[in-house]
Order: sequence, then C-alpha cells, then structure tokens
Amino acid sequence: MKTSIRPLVLFFVCLSYLTLSFAISDYYNAIFSFGDSFSDTGNFVIMESPVLPNIPKFPPPYARCSNGRLVIDFMAEYFGMPLLPPSQSISKNFTQGANFAVIGATALPLEYFHKNQIYEIPPINSSLPIQLDWFDDLKQYVCNSTQECRDFFRRSLFIVGEFGGNDYSFTMKSGRTIDQVKGMVPTVVDAIMSAVEKLINDGARHVLVPGNLPSGCIPIMLTIYQSSNKDDYDPRTGCLKNLNSLSLYHNAVLRIAIEKMNKKYPEARVIYGDYYGPVIQYARTPELFGFTNGALMVCCGGGGPYNYNASASCGLPGAIQCTEPNSHVSWDGIHLTEAAYHYIANGWMKGPYAYPPLISVMEE
Ligand SMILES: *[C@@H]1O[C@H](CO)[C@@H](O)[C@H](O)[C@H]1NC(C)=O
Ligand SMILES: *[C@@H]1O[C@H](CO)[C@@H](O)[C@H](O)[C@H]1NC(C)=O
Ligand SMILES: *[C@@H]1O[C@H](CO)[C@@H](O)[C@H](O)[C@H]1NC(C)=O
Ligand SMILES: *[C@@H]1O[C@H](CO)[C@@H](O)[C@H](O)[C@H]1NC(C)=O
Repeated sequence: MKTSIRPLVLFFVCLSYLTLSFAISDYYNAIFSFGDSFSDTGNFVIMESPVLPNIPKFPPPYARCSNGRLVIDFMAEYFGMPLLPPSQSISKNFTQGANFAVIGATALPLEYFHKNQIYEIPPINSSLPIQLDWFDDLKQYVCNSTQECRDFFRRSLFIVGEFGGNDYSFTMKSGRTIDQVKGMVPTVVDAIMSAVEKLINDGARHVLVPGNLPSGCIPIMLTIYQSSNKDDYDPRTGCLKNLNSLSLYHNAVLRIAIEKMNKKYPEARVIYGDYYGPVIQYARTPELFGFTNGALMVCCGGGGPYNYNASASCGLPGAIQCTEPNSHVSWDGIHLTEAAYHYIANGWMKGPYAYPPLISVMEE
C-alpha cells in the first residue's frame, strides 16, 4: 500500500509545477522597462560612442554593468521571453517589449540639475521623462490605435526603476549634504509616480516599481564618504548609516506613493520591488548566499579598502577582474554580480522581496 502512494504524490507535484510554469510563460505578451545602469541592457553602449568615444567597453558578451544577467534579464527568462532588446537597437523588433534604461539616467530631467547648479550629471540626456517619450515613439511597433495599444499594454509587464540613486549621488557629488538631498526625495518620487500614472493611463495594469539599494553598502560610496568615526558605520553590516537612511527614506516615501496609486487605480497593480532588503541581508550574512568574498569587496577593481579605485575602476587599465565574480555581491563597486541579481529576481517573483510578489499578482 505504502509504496504506491509515493509515485502518485510525485506525479501531482510535477503536474502542478508544469501547469504553473506553462501559465507563467504565457502570461505577459511583452515587458517594458525604464531605468538606469541597474537595468540597461545595451542602450548606453549604442548611444555612447558619439558622446564618449573613450569609455571602456563592458566585458563580453553582455553590454551590461555586471558579469552576467541583470534582474530584468531573469524576469524575461521567467516569462519565457528573449532578453529585452534595448530601445535604441537598430533591429527595432519590439514585439515582446523594449528596455529604455540607460546608464546614469535620473528620474528628474537634466534641466532640474542645471537650474539647481548641480553639474555632476549624466553624460546622456536620458532621464525618465525622455524615456517616456521614447516609449511613445515606439508604440507604433506594437499597436496602431489607442484602443489597440491599451489592449496590448494591459497584458504587458512594466518595470519603472530603479530611479533616484543617480539623482541623489550626482547631487551629493556636487557638494550637497545628505540632509539637503533628503529634501529632494518627494520631488524624485513624484517624478517616478507620474511616470507610473502615465503608463496606467496608457493601459498598463501591472507596474513593478523597484526602490533604491542601500547606498551606504555600495563600495564606491563607502570609498568616497569614508569616515574615521566608527559610529558612522553599522556594526552588523559595515555600511554607512546616514547614506542608508537616505535610501530608507526614499523607499518609505515611494511605498506610501505606491499605496496611494493602488487606491486611485484599483484596476491596476503597482508592486514595490525591494533592492534594499536583500542587499542588507547579503551584508549581514554573505556566506548564507554563497558570497564567500563578502558583500563590500569589489570583484572588478583596482585596489583600496573595498577594492574600488576611481582611477582604476572596472574597464580601465589597472583594474583586475576577480576569478569568481559570483562569490562577490559587488561587481564593479556600483553594480551587483549576476548571482546577487539572481536572488533579487527570485525574491521579486516569488517573495519575499516584492510587495506583493509578482506570482501572487498573476494568480489574481
Ligand atoms: C522578433 O523577435 C521575436 C522574438 O521576440 C522573434 O520570434 C521574431 O522572429 C523576430 N522577428 C523578426 C522580424 O526578426
Ligand atoms: C534633452 O532632450 C529633450 C528632448 O529631446 C530636449 O527637449 C531637451 O532640451 C534636452 N535637454 C538638454 C539639457 O539637452
Ligand atoms: C498596423 O496596421 C497595419 C495596416 O493595417 C498592419 O499591417 C500592421 O501589422 C499593424 N501593426 C501592428 C503593430 O498591429
Ligand atoms: C588606484 O589606481 C591607480 C592607477 O592605477 C594607482 O596608481 C593607485 O596606486 C591605486 N590606488 C590604490 C589604493 O590601490
């Protein structure tokens, strides 16, 4: 009797798994992504040549700031789609979506930074409002009329972010204090949420909005804002407390705005994607995730306490790439390794790093 039960149980387990994965790969017709270097899959490489002919090339085969796939790439894989083409790609095959993200992009337009005498700004005019213009121009490749577009976007996944990290770090680099930068947070969150609202008005139903990473755990920030006062560091993580408080503040304001948006548009689902929680977990217990080289030591760098060196950063002469990138959290001192992104992508799909996890939204 007993022996016949096991195969039966296994059969049901396999069946439900197959049913679920079939549904997932059929669920969305396309993904549209907006963002910065945490999700750029090639736009910068396509656009930079006339702007910055001498910028170092990214290691092949990926035109990405990582040793491999980003969260957005894992998302595309979950849904059985090819990796998202950059919106600037010449093939213009956008039938399954496009990625508008560009390295260095800000939520606020360049004009905001000029007006406020902030001159440490991105090399490419590619802020979120510009990415939205690109989106409007690209609609013609997937739909012909307003109603056809609405029908199409209703079955698409939209990802807006991460945004804000660059707005704040450019402003700090121009000499503003963290308290001054905190004053910008509501403006930045407004810019993100007005993009979300525009997309909902265009027909979007599922919009994933990632928050900020803990900037006090990012090696470039740990290097620039190094402190001789031990109290400035969180003893559990080794991260800079006041920089993390800025990220926490941004994320708190963003989550309140997301809740409001969900109330205003009950037919849509705006989901918060958490980058902060997982990166803090990595910093607390790196070995639990296989990061035997810790969370704060850069893989591809050129010396210094965190192996981040601005004059020998990844891609420049003098930088050396480690042999096991996926035993590190930090790829180049700013961005994460593929392994670090993989856990985050899983956490956004299935929990616990998204509110609510994408899977549960799809099952509604
Ligand atoms: C466009 O991309 C899809 C995959 O997203 C592929 O199936 C199709 O063949 C491509 N079309 C052209 C014209 O290249
Ligand atoms: C950025 O691009 C937009 C749209 O093309 C343009 O209106 C704006 O003037 C540009 N801003 C700067 C600072 O170049
Ligand atoms: C738009 O309309 C034209 C002409 O009817 C059609 O050939 C084309 O496939 C349509 N494009 C899309 C994206 O539906
Ligand atoms: C940073 O890189 C420069 C250029 O390669 C090198 O001269 C310098 O010694 C490096 N600094 C550290 C702390 O390793």
